[in-house]
Amino acid sequence: MNAPFDYAHPFLTGDVKKLFIGGEWVDASSGETFDCIDPSRGLAAIKVSRGGPEDIDRAVAAARAAFEGEWSKWTPFDRQALMLKAAEAIDRRFEDLARLETIDMGAPLARTGLFRRWIQQTFRYYASQAMNTRGDIFSNSVPGNFMAYSHKAPVGVVGAIIPWNGPMITQLWSICPTLATGCTLVLKPAEEAPLSTLMMAEILHEAGVPAGVINVVPGPGPTAGAALAGHMDVNKINFTGSTVTGRKIIEASASNMKRVAVELGGKSPDIVFADADLDAAATGAAMACFTNTGQVCFAGTRLFVERSIYDDFVERVAEVGRKLKVGPALSEESQLGPLASQAQLDRVTSYFQVAREDGARLVTGGEPLDIGGGFFVPPTVYAGVTNDMRIAREEIFGPVLAAIPFDTEEEALALANDTIYGLGGGVWSRDVGRVHRVAHAIRTGMVWTNCYGVTDPAVTFIGTRQSGYGVKGGPYAVDEFLAAKTVWMNLA
Ligand code: NAI
Ligand code: MG
Repeated sequence: MNAPFDYAHPFLTGDVKKLFIGGEWVDASSGETFDCIDPSRGLAAIKVSRGGPEDIDRAVAAARAAFEGEWSKWTPFDRQALMLKAAEAIDRRFEDLARLETIDMGAPLARTGLFRRWIQQTFRYYASQAMNTRGDIFSNSVPGNFMAYSHKAPVGVVGAIIPWNGPMITQLWSICPTLATGCTLVLKPAEEAPLSTLMMAEILHEAGVPAGVINVVPGPGPTAGAALAGHMDVNKINFTGSTVTGRKIIEASASNMKRVAVELGGKSPDIVFADADLDAAATGAAMACFTNTGQVCFAGTRLFVERSIYDDFVERVAEVGRKLKVGPALSEESQLGPLASQAQLDRVTSYFQVAREDGARLVTGGEPLDIGGGFFVPPTVYAGVTNDMRIAREEIFGPVLAAIPFDTEEEALALANDTIYGLGGGVWSRDVGRVHRVAHAIRTGMVWTNCYGVTDPAVTFIGTRQSGYGVKGGPYAVDEFLAAKTVWMNLA
């Protein structure tokens, strides 16, 4: 279709967006490129150099040289000042950054525009942590004439492998702690949405981040990603993505025993009791699943509803979904954009078929939307779901909600915990005792009570079970980029 929007963008000029290695824009060693697709139209927005194992080697070498060079002499105060300067530089170019992400992965402007505050908070929070690193002194606890201290040093070269569902945010979970602690970074974005990471590299470079400290190498997971995960000179991998790939990352990390953090998929339960504020719960439960067209790791995709209110409540949630405006991501009116890729459209559509075969009752949605060649699906709700159906067990990563009735708190908890995943969860009730009981008993890293999906860079973000391990957000996330070292002293 002839898009009615202006796709001109200062970053989308020239023939090919290159790799950013050692402070320079370079072609892939192979000379290959790939099309970066705009999912609102299903058309290429620009070509990007296709990084491979050789390029990962070059980037790791640049990161190692930077780690051992001048960067290692920067004080925490220097790094904090740099981060604050970088935050201002990002703010000046924020609108271009948000628009680029919108074109690249399909989150509407209404969503990407909200990230201005989040980016500022994340940079400023981690900037504060640059000054907040300290070790331990062991004096009284040590026998004889000895004393020991442990101090914290940056872990070294970090590899980040991130997905396409929100790179503007996900990249910060690696960039900010890298800068705060004095590590260096090789970032491999997903092929589906590499542009905001490349633009971020440009902004950071111009703001004074030294060459080699942040390197960005877009490329395929099985080649470029695998090379980074298995690399002998990478000290830590920060991975966000699917559980299947997370397992491969952990296996690859055995090459040199590198440290790993994996933030993986989910099938998060959202439990609504009859005594909840049902207006708030209906909107909350709908958006827990539909936000970002369902492409959120902690999306509340299994909705457990007390049987006495089940039919009415599920209809209310569906009505919230029907009213959401789905459309091209650059449209100011769109509340939900397309799925990020043809592969995701095929995947989500296949689950519509699975739901039919398994006998779930369609309440709303359930068919792709024909909007000008893009990868669109509507908010979709299935009722009459049982927890053993595939739509209740498998991460779909689309706006597909499986609504399941329950009779008692014990039953709700048993069903909620009957999953391999453990990322998010929600509980809606006015009974404060019950809220805390359930929040403690849900086996996930995070639970939201009478709300869903609130996050803050200063607060621990964590999964458990097959949603992975490793902390993002808060002081423990900084620790993940630091290694303790102990020194003994003979006082005799
Ligand atoms: P993925 O987990 O394979 O991709 C995430 C990142 O890992 C990308 O940068 C990719 O290039 C890289 N990667 C892929 N294979 C790799 C390998 N062997 N070694 C190193 N890196 C590798 O996810 P994909 O294929 O993009 O999406 C498939 C499904 O995964 C989605 O439908 C969704 O269910 C789930 N997913 C979950 C996410 C979450 O945040 N929970 C994010 C992205 C995907
Ligand atoms: Mg794209």
